[in-house]
Amino acid sequence: MRSSVLVSGGAGYIGSHICLRLAELGYTPVAYDNLSNGHAEFVQWGPLERGDIRDPARLAEVFALHRPCAVIHLAGLIEVGHSTADPALFYDINVGGSIRLLQAAEGAGVRAVVFSSSCAVYGAPQQTSIGEAHPLSPLNPYGRTKLVVEEFLQELARWKGMSSLALRYFNAAGADLTGRIGERHEPETHLIPLAIDAALGRRGPLNIFGADYPTPDGTAIRDYIHVADLADAHVRAVEWLLKTPHAAGTFNAVNLGSGQGASVRELVDAVGRAVGSPVPLREAPRRAGDASQLIADITKAQQLLDWQPSHDLETVVRTAVQWAQASPNPL
Ligand code: UFG
Repeated sequence: MRSSVLVSGGAGYIGSHICLRLAELGYTPVAYDNLSNGHAEFVQWGPLERGDIRDPARLAEVFALHRPCAVIHLAGLIEVGHSTADPALFYDINVGGSIRLLQAAEGAGVRAVVFSSSCAVYGAPQQTSIGEAHPLSPLNPYGRTKLVVEEFLQELARWKGMSSLALRYFNAAGADLTGRIGERHEPETHLIPLAIDAALGRRGPLNIFGADYPTPDGTAIRDYIHVADLADAHVRAVEWLLKTPHAAGTFNAVNLGSGQGASVRELVDAVGRAVGSPVPLREAPRRAGDASQLIADITKAQQLLDWQPSHDLETVVRTAVQWAQASPNPL
């Protein structure tokens, strides 16, 4: 019988790509999602169980029904600006919800948890390439809630023998190579979909948030990782936890990025080339709390998970453009 893996947030952008990858490798992905930001039509490779991660009764029901061998936990709020406007909501959902979910997992005998963390746990970068040993000093409630959950996972590893991996994402980007799923946030705040919509004439000029950074072209540098590569790393993480004898009762944090930096202007130029018309631009002030450069050191992911990103930036942009062109008008 194929094993089930419960994916909280499985109807979202990254969660749905993880469900697809799980199914490709023979698992049954169970998407647990309240559809507040997820999309029912993204759940195509296993059951959708509607529910909130703050609802212990619903969680217990779903764990009893599907008996997952592992949990991949993504459900939560993701937008930094929203977190500064409403920290209580972020703590309620991202921390309170995670505690409920992990309690339910533990109660159901699940020993392996993969957690969707973020490079936001590092705060202002102190070196060019960020390794997992970089100091942890989040600049906003979003990053702080991710760090608190990582700390709670360490408690569960130490005192309850639960094994976990916190995957610290840099910038997830791109879409399924065959166009089945892609990025859709409401409202959209991410650079690539906004740049594409601007180039397609579906919204006004793209704001370049800061052209005065200490970088070669003055715009901020990020590490964009194709969402399919990200998804593949999650399944490897589950298998590492389930199949490695010395994984039992451990917690590890692992960066997921491409290991390469690209500036806002480089991205915008790539989007213009892929769309076939330039992205209309407007220079705007820096966005509060943005770092000038965030690039992952991915050595640990390569070694621990035997993982390697396989899609380059051109593929990231091309698949994102294909997805946007096939999607209805922007929100
Ligand atoms: N940017 C613009 N114009 C825009 C949107 C973004 O210039 O209209 C710039 C940003 O200032 C940043 C870069 O493009 O320099 C990337 O911005 P995104 O919003 O796409 O991504 P972030 O690096 O800000 O955010 C990423 C994840 C978030 C997560 C955050 C945590 O995409 O989900 O890291 O630090 F919350």
